Amino acid sequence: MMNTQAGDPGAFAHFDLSRVPSPAFVVDAARLRANLEVLADIKHRSGAKILSALKAFSMWEVAPLLAEYLDGVATSGLWEARLAFDKYEGEIATYSPAFKAEDLAEIAAISDHIIFNSPDQIARHSKAIIGLRDAGEQFDIGLRINPLHAEGEIAKYDPCQPHSRLGFPIDQLADAHIDAIDGIHFHSLCEQGFEPLYRTWEAIVPFLEPYIGDLKWLNFGGGHHITRADYARDELVEFLHDVAETTGCEVYLEPGEAIALDAGILVGELLDVMDNGMPVGITDISATCHMPDVIEAPYRPAMLGEARDGPVIRLGGPSCLAGDIIGDYRLPGPMEPGLRFAFLDQAHYSMVKTSTFNGVPLPSIWLWDSETDELREVRRFDWTTFRDRLS
Ligand SMILES: Cc1ncc(COP(=O)(O)O)c(C=O)c1O
Repeated sequence: MMNTQAGDPGAFAHFDLSRVPSPAFVVDAARLRANLEVLADIKHRSGAKILSALKAFSMWEVAPLLAEYLDGVATSGLWEARLAFDKYEGEIATYSPAFKAEDLAEIAAISDHIIFNSPDQIARHSKAIIGLRDAGEQFDIGLRINPLHAEGEIAKYDPCQPHSRLGFPIDQLADAHIDAIDGIHFHSLCEQGFEPLYRTWEAIVPFLEPYIGDLKWLNFGGGHHITRADYARDELVEFLHDVAETTGCEVYLEPGEAIALDAGILVGELLDVMDNGMPVGITDISATCHMPDVIEAPYRPAMLGEARDGPVIRLGGPSCLAGDIIGDYRLPGPMEPGLRFAFLDQAHYSMVKTSTFNGVPLPSIWLWDSETDELREVRRFDWTTFRDRLS
């Protein structure tokens, strides 16, 4: 079933879409700051550390802003770890479902925490780990466990789905596994509130209890929609504080979406309109190239200022893929070529996933500050980006 995104336009309700070329991502620094202030408040009141998951939002132009509020970043392997080392400040926690032996030394040099997906991988790399530590590299080893407690609404986004490859099944945890690690990590939530986190913790405590005294830290992954207005933040603070106190462990969260929630739009333009049983519009925004989650999840992105009444048009991208359909909308202006429009909440998991399939141009990236109205082009891509990825 297609999920319709709610979407809070925030200050974008007053943004003139003709100020940027199309297509373009526009990120509001003021909204980012507001999100970061919420997260920093959670950190300060609970004592937990918060890392920003780069897989969701890696617009490194705003790395200095993130550094003012958060403790560092969570990365997904060598390339994100390199980006973190090059552009971001603070701690780096690197988790990958599987590490390659040839990447490990550089990951260890960059990362404060290396989090493995299974005790077998740790054992396989143990000689290298000992060698790196003997050579003076300082890093903690973590193990991602699978809580075997599903809270996900969509199987595709639920690491606790049956036969999942993500995380070591917690019911197989044994003394020997704990000897090799400093911390435990789990990530099993997606766009969720506090209660699912609490229930997950309750589900894993019986398995973890015998080992708690041997652990330095616990990392509760991402999927916490902390910056959503209805998130039970006081309950989260109390919970994080209690976990730290009762376990003696340092507690980490590594949200991605929550950093950039409602902080970015994707501006597009209507290129052509025809009728095929209903109005059909071709735009310069492609679901498959620019917002692949629209097809993968699937979901229907909210449109800035979408009209309540009037004709419905089916919007799709300029690629040849028949399924490059964004959704059915009531446009905020005339159904004519040249109309500008924007999809809400596109800063996370869109910018990081863009591709140039069909030679579709990449959106440029703009930073706007809704408090000062300053607007700045951060990056514009030309066709050589497409060319140079292909040979
Ligand atoms: C291991 C891990 N940590 C953190 C995150 C960030 O999750 P979110 O962006 O939903 O907060 C993800 C997302 O898939 C993840 O796999």
